[in-house]
Amino acid sequence: MSNQTLPWWKTAIGYQIYPRSFYDSNGDGIGDINGIIEKLPYLHDLGVTLVWICPFFASPMDDFGYDVKDYYQVDPSYGTLDDIQNLIAKAHELGIRIIIDLVLNHTSDEHKWFIEARKNRYSKYHQYYIWKEGRQATNGTILPPTNWQGYFGDSAWQYDEVAKLYYLKIFSKKMPDLNWDYEPMRLDMYQVARFWLDLGIDGFRLDAIAHLAKEKPPTDSSYQVNALGTVLDPSKFSSLPRLFDYLHGFKKEVLDHYPEVVTIGEVGGNVSPLQSLRYSGTTQGPLNMVFNFDTCWENGAFGSEDKSDLEIRTNVIQLKQNFEKWYQGTAGQAWPPLYWLNHDHPRVVSQYGSIRYRKASAKMLATTLLFMYGTPFLYNGEEIGMSNVDYTKLTQFKDVSALQYARQASERLDEQTILRFLRRTSRVNARTPFQWSDELYAGFSTKEPMFAVHKNYKDINVESQLKDPDSILNYYKKAIQVRKTSHIQKAVLEGPLTFLAPLNPDVFSYIHQGETPLLVISNFRDYTVEFPLQYIIKEVVLHNYPSIEKQGLSIILRPFESYVLEVEML
Ligand code: NOJ
Repeated sequence: MSNQTLPWWKTAIGYQIYPRSFYDSNGDGIGDINGIIEKLPYLHDLGVTLVWICPFFASPMDDFGYDVKDYYQVDPSYGTLDDIQNLIAKAHELGIRIIIDLVLNHTSDEHKWFIEARKNRYSKYHQYYIWKEGRQATNGTILPPTNWQGYFGDSAWQYDEVAKLYYLKIFSKKMPDLNWDYEPMRLDMYQVARFWLDLGIDGFRLDAIAHLAKEKPPTDSSYQVNALGTVLDPSKFSSLPRLFDYLHGFKKEVLDHYPEVVTIGEVGGNVSPLQSLRYSGTTQGPLNMVFNFDTCWENGAFGSEDKSDLEIRTNVIQLKQNFEKWYQGTAGQAWPPLYWLNHDHPRVVSQYGSIRYRKASAKMLATTLLFMYGTPFLYNGEEIGMSNVDYTKLTQFKDVSALQYARQASERLDEQTILRFLRRTSRVNARTPFQWSDELYAGFSTKEPMFAVHKNYKDINVESQLKDPDSILNYYKKAIQVRKTSHIQKAVLEGPLTFLAPLNPDVFSYIHQGETPLLVISNFRDYTVEFPLQYIIKEVVLHNYPSIEKQGLSIILRPFESYVLEVEML
């Protein structure tokens, strides 16, 4: 398998940008497209060849751009269409491809389609959304049509005073779900997608793609409801058979006309490796890859409201199992993306690494991810070891889902517990301003940004790490360079890949058994462990400590120590 036979995205190094928080070029406190353009040389220098940018379309920003008001316009706070064209051109000059985040599941309630839809039941736009009468309870009150809960914690239905009907919204109430059964809507969305592809973008991350089809007609979930009478039952609106017709239609009408582009569907947490083949299987899948989150939450942070920070610990066995499950279940049949986090997750150094051992653990996480089989996606700030927020007030968690959680949780938990939980799990963790330097507002902007800058910016920033040869940033650069070296890339992408020591509770290790066997060993603990080595070391390819410690046939792994080794069988 030579590079010539691989599509470009299989050898790409991906990098996700949350535009609001990346770099503010015009001093208004909000990151923007020109800010991304200014930082392209930085990304190029890091070794990035594929950038995914979170939504920048015109939006009321209820969910910071995932609530789209106009798919054909850039939000003025981010820039203009000309800026995007400029970005594409400049990125391409540097060998960086740009993919954008396409939201097909819902629009903003301020989108002109919805404004028309709620006003006029007889307009075609009414059918662009999913409407239902409420139900009458025995005491006469009107209840939502079903007991479904949405992903942000409240009912999946919202009553609309104008239409006098409920509409479905599985995220925020300002994000009504689209009705993909209705062909005119689908045709409009195809046009949106073509518009961006014609502008020169290189593909899409497809938001919430598993949810385009909903149960029809909607019926109550049989799961146990909560105190609000609702329950999250993804089977009502995830991976339903009709969804695959829509995706194949999208492929035929749009994607097939742009054979070079890449598509990555966000399928979330309810898709098994086998099911994922219906989305991105090489032979039958309409998409190229899927993002699931099975490897993102293995430290027990979910459901940890009653736990102290000391009780939160990476379950290394489970983490390995999940990577292995996806590898075994899809290898040779689908292409996997590799990632520790995205803009909806906490920072990985806080989750699986250690603040005390920030440098060693961030480097270890880089090694573990970058040498696995698939296309890596770094999340902005990961390369300098940015960590979870230090916020002390609930109002600092400026996020529709965090605030909804805080409101509901305040019925049963005290404020400190809620704060602790949000500092551990909230997606705001990943959205604080990127730390460029030790200047005011971390060099992100000259104006106070909306998300408060992390207090550690004076120590953790790009400028200082560029100067430090031993920094996390320089390690990432080196690791990426190594990953791109042809014989290493060949070993990584050809496999076969075997996960080692599945029951070792501390060490994550795998080997690519190709022509040049390549062994990766990572200690996920803040203490020293011994790891039996069944191979002869031929070459140390990458290592985050200055010396090797061995004892007989074992290698001694200090806190968060990590290796990439070329080896031979004993
Ligand atoms: C998934 C996105 O990643 C998330 O940020 C957003 O809130 C929901 N989809 C709704 O668009």
